[in-house]
Amino acid sequence: LLSPKSLGNMDSRIGFIVLFCLIGLTCAEPVRFLDCGSTSGKVIGVDINPCPTQPCQLHKGDAYSVNVTFSSGVETSKSTAVVHGIVAGVPLPFPIPEDDGCKCGIQCPIQKDNTYHYLNTLSVKAEYPAIKVVVEWELRDASSSDLFCIKFPVQIVS
Ligand SMILES: *[C@@H]1O[C@H](CO)[C@@H](O)[C@H](O)[C@H]1NC(C)=O
Repeated sequence: LLSPKSLGNMDSRIGFIVLFCLIGLTCAEPVRFLDCGSTSGKVIGVDINPCPTQPCQLHKGDAYSVNVTFSSGVETSKSTAVVHGIVAGVPLPFPIPEDDGCKCGIQCPIQKDNTYHYLNTLSVKAEYPAIKVVVEWELRDASSSDLFCIKFPVQIVS
């Protein structure tokens, strides 16, 4: 059954799988977030600390700092954060203690073309299930348009 010919086929199949994994790794590495429609601003970068490996492993009972650097395309007096946890494709509201972006490192009113660092903390409660979640974090301006909308996967671990 295992003729030299079929062994050769197997070798090339393994070769393909290895190649695909390597491509997958190098493609996935720099992608830290997805932009989910930042209509009145532009995301420059997202930092989550600590997050040495991706997707970020969030340990129950720990708190993680979130730092979203963005530039605003509008002038606005208000900024309000709305956070969802997407579990199996379903977005569930995720209440955060401080939803006023103007109290999270942003000096309001927000000026057009200025760069801001939005700073907040993601607290992982002990009662959360140990699952994979996609976090969707929006910051809305006074007219409810997104200054930023980012999505990033996390893994909640014990
Ligand atoms: C937020 O991130 C930006 C860009 O990486 C950095 O310059 C800034 O110092 C950070 N702010 C804090 C408080 O970590």
